[in-house]
Amino acid sequence: MDVLEAVSSRYSCRAFLPTPIPEKVVREIVERAARAPSAGNMQPWRVYAIAGKRVDELRALLVPRMTTELPKGEGTDYTIYPEPLTEPYRSRRFMVGELLYQSIKVSREDKSSRYRQYARNYQFFGAPVALFFAREKAHGPAQWADIGGYLQTVAVLARGYGFHTCPQQAWVSFHRTVREFLNLPDRLMVYSGMALGYEDTAAPINSWRAPRESLDAFASFQGFDS
Ligand SMILES: Cc1cc2nc3c(=O)[nH]c(=O)nc-3n(C[C@H](O)[C@H](O)[C@H](O)COP(=O)(O)O)c2cc1C
Repeated sequence: MDVLEAVSSRYSCRAFLPTPIPEKVVREIVERAARAPSAGNMQPWRVYAIAGKRVDELRALLVPRMTTELPKGEGTDYTIYPEPLTEPYRSRRFMVGELLYQSIKVSREDKSSRYRQYARNYQFFGAPVALFFAREKAHGPAQWADIGGYLQTVAVLARGYGFHTCPQQAWVSFHRTVREFLNLPDRLMVYSGMALGYEDTAAPINSWRAPRESLDAFASFQGFDS
């Protein structure tokens, strides 16, 4: 698969097949992704990969908490969405939620079904492998951005191996549990999780794609000859 296809076929997959991925392959993806650029080549990403029994253990920890603790969980340890969320960002966020729930025929009013779907985050949507991207608490916006670039490189490389991914900031809502589970050093905090595996092509939740703004809405071009 070439890079154009890898980028265009990446999407946030929310239903995976249980087919395992060998450790060697996950190591390769995590290692290759470190070709991502970073300011001053700081390479500020820290990655925790779990599979098999470890994924099952983390899932099991969360299951009994879903009915009582969603959507807040433990409260996030950093702000994901700015408050207030102004336009056009608010509408984009709203739209992606609408498309997601429409794909599984869940109405806006049906809160319990919405929570049930949201809780699938904490099952890694059935994926056999999970990654957590952590950052040094002392680092600033430039390093957050570098970790974002690293995350996207993982997602694109995963396509090259035939896998799909879903980045999962949802895990930040259970940051204390994740910290303890991963035995995260005090100086680190989790930026995002990510589910990794083969997509379930039959799952309706995977049947839609989040729209993008037209090019001219977010980019300008100056000084080109043609
Ligand atoms: C850092 C990050 C965290 C995300 N966290 C979640 C999440 O917790 N759960 C989820 O279903 N999608 C999550 N997403 C996926 C976004 O909703 C998705 O990228 C966006 O709607 C665009 O859709 P696409 O990735 O399918 O193109 C996350 C994306 C990013 C970049």
